[in-house]
Amino acid sequence: MAIEIDNVTVRFGGITAVSGVSLSIKHGEIIAVVGPNGSGKSTLFNCVSGLVSLATGAVRIDDVETKMIGPSARVRMGLARTFQTPRFDPSETVARAVSCGFYPHTKAGIISSMLRWKSSSREEREVHESCAAILDDLGLLSLRNIPLAELSMGQLRLVEVARAMANKPRYLLLDEPAAGLTLDEQQALAAQVRLLSQNGVGVLLVEHNFNLIRQLAENVLVLDRGKPILSGKPADIEKNTDFVDLYLGSTGRKH
Ligand SMILES: Nc1ncnc2c1ncn2[C@@H]1O[C@H](COP(=O)(O)OP(=O)(O)OP(=O)(O)O)[C@@H](O)[C@H]1O
Ligand SMILES: [Mg+2]
Repeated sequence: MAIEIDNVTVRFGGITAVSGVSLSIKHGEIIAVVGPNGSGKSTLFNCVSGLVSLATGAVRIDDVETKMIGPSARVRMGLARTFQTPRFDPSETVARAVSCGFYPHTKAGIISSMLRWKSSSREEREVHESCAAILDDLGLLSLRNIPLAELSMGQLRLVEVARAMANKPRYLLLDEPAAGLTLDEQQALAAQVRLLSQNGVGVLLVEHNFNLIRQLAENVLVLDRGKPILSGKPADIEKNTDFVDLYLGSTGRKH
């Protein structure tokens, strides 16, 4: 059981954002994707979550070809993701934002829960308790009633991760989750990602922070201008001169 990205190419007009990329993420695996700005990492995520069309290639989730399957149906297949730039209603509280992640799995659904129908009250209590547990795991419990507008960027990113976790995914795509996090927040995030993988969740991690990659990822794929140029264990990748040149040479590089 895996997500299989099979020779995928994505074009935006004249730009080839992703070019012939193949990758598989099995249950319980943590795979990292790295590369300079504009190298196609977020576009690769969008291929898996169904937000862009493929020019060539295929994405299969647990052997199901996803060409005709939209983003919401992919969520129901067990896929959750975070966005590089979290998008939230700033007046929403942390607990409310994370609770939304549970509703694809509740019988009552979000409407009856909002209207507080009797049949949904037990489920609502369960959502409340599970939400508190996830917030606690990520060190966010004391912020549960705070509006999102008052959070730091790092805290917002953790809320985004908490919401994805609430969806009880079998696959989790994290797009630069550690950007702007304090060291303590990074460690809380790393511990949760490791726990998820131990519980069988397949994780695709886009991250510039190689400390986190070294701690978490089994394998790393390096992209340059959409093309896969290297793959291997984190310890081998960070020693590779092509990788070092790519990162040192990428300072201020524009695409
Ligand atoms: N919706 C779009 N329309 C047109 N071009 C796009 C679109 N999305 C991405 N691109 C282009 O595709 C290329 C890859 O972008 P992408 O956002 O996937 O890179 P990235 O590796 O995630 O970069 P970053 O590290 O800055 O997040 C870039 O040249 C970008 O400008
Ligand atoms: Mg990106």
